[in-house]
Amino acid sequence: MSSIGENGADFLVVANRLPVDLERLPDGTQRWKHSPGGLVTALEPFLRTHSGAWVGWPGIADAEVDAFEEDGLQLHPVALSASEVADYYEGFSNGTLWPLYHDVVAPPAFHRRWWNAYVRVNQRFADVTAKVAAQGATVWVQDYQLQLVPAMLRELRPDLRIGFFLHIPFPPVELFMQLPWRTEIIRGLLGADLVGFHRPGGAQNFLWLARRLVGLEPSRGAVGVRTRPGVVQVGDRTVRVGAFPISIDSAGLDALARDKEVQKHAKQIREDLGNPKKILLGVDRLDYTKGIDVRLRALHELLADGRVNPGEVTMVQLATPSRERVEHYKQMRGEIEQAVGRINGEFSTVGHPVVHYLHQSVNRRELTAFMTAADVMVVTPVRDGMNLVCKEYVATRYDLGGALVLSEFAGAAAELTSAFLVNPHDLDGVKNALEAALTLDPAEGRRRMRALRRQVLTHDVDRWARSFLDALGTQSTI
Ligand code: ADP
Ligand code: G6P
Repeated sequence: MSSIGENGADFLVVANRLPVDLERLPDGTQRWKHSPGGLVTALEPFLRTHSGAWVGWPGIADAEVDAFEEDGLQLHPVALSASEVADYYEGFSNGTLWPLYHDVVAPPAFHRRWWNAYVRVNQRFADVTAKVAAQGATVWVQDYQLQLVPAMLRELRPDLRIGFFLHIPFPPVELFMQLPWRTEIIRGLLGADLVGFHRPGGAQNFLWLARRLVGLEPSRGAVGVRTRPGVVQVGDRTVRVGAFPISIDSAGLDALARDKEVQKHAKQIREDLGNPKKILLGVDRLDYTKGIDVRLRALHELLADGRVNPGEVTMVQLATPSRERVEHYKQMRGEIEQAVGRINGEFSTVGHPVVHYLHQSVNRRELTAFMTAADVMVVTPVRDGMNLVCKEYVATRYDLGGALVLSEFAGAAAELTSAFLVNPHDLDGVKNALEAALTLDPAEGRRRMRALRRQVLTHDVDRWARSFLDALGTQSTI
């Protein structure tokens, strides 16, 4: 087991966010709440059972918080000023990299001020990590906000074993080449001993860029899933580059779904919705990559075509507030709320809205109850590195009930081939898949769900973390 003592931690996760967010309440007091997003969902259960340290931002500007311990996990806060939140987090991370890496579905903005803040904040994360890591420790750097940290950290602490994992898609090289600081990013990542992506395509793109931008000679063989990593020699170091599809705590969710109280809650949700024949469910951060607009448009047309009866079908959309000060997000929220209003205006009756839209985050138990109650889970991102929501739905359906409509543009589609796979740009295709899922023969549904569950229950987050850390060559210390 790892431990933290005077000599520092020997296993550290470094991520933009801590697993908990500091919240300032109107009365001036503060409290910690669970952080949003898939990265924390995936890593938190692993870290809590393996004890280690987590370096990250506490989620609000100018929070001066000392390191503290929570449930055996050491949390090391990295403070950001209000202007760093604006330039590094909302700016370069979420106004430049996020849209660029998601197929430029929104136009990325390139600002030198944002880039300078990104460099400065990455250096701060590297400095804090260098201070709290024990001699020879394993450091696992996470995601697009911290791509310069591996090289910065190596400079400070060559004794460390450094892994990096990207939780979002790594883009096609033609798109990546738009970035004015493309070479710096590739050099930053090459500071790691192992660079991990969800899909082999991302690893392949990265290897190509290491040749094109840094003039290195990477291996040319095809990268496999959890096998056959690519290699590239950087001076006297060998950097490995692999594909490690992330997953969830499948057994934990399966157990939660079997909990009698959760089942009671699921029944209550159905009743509260007026016992509709079928419930459609969407669960996402309110993000323009998630295709919430796509599913609303498809539902609207199905209702207008008379293919879906508004008296029989209800949709619930849970949407966690996200990055609310970033322009693309503000605009998208308005569009989605308008689309919900339009469907309800045209097709609802008093007391029975067709779409229930909650701009809120719900807790784990409640989420499981919603998934248990849902007949069709609708996951339609226009691009998503993996998407954990679809895996969570499958893990909760121990009864083999329900149906999953899943975008081909989510990393998870490569694994969940028994879902109703759709191209989110093909509205007729999405409509047909929704209709097929709503009218699915139960025996066929069970067959599909059994195949989906086989995949999700055998490939959980523990297996993901172990395969990454094995490839990094550090299993024995963790
Ligand atoms: P991303 O990391 O881009 O947000 P993922 O699908 O990989 O997307 O992970 C999202 C995580 O956040 C999942 O664990 C999901 O259950 C959770 N989540 C999303 N929306 C909500 C919500 N409204 N309430 C509670 N949890 C949510
Ligand atoms: C995705 C990203 C994470 C991020 C999360 C929530 O999962 O890959 O790095 O933490 O979204 O987004 P936020 O900007 O609120 O941290």
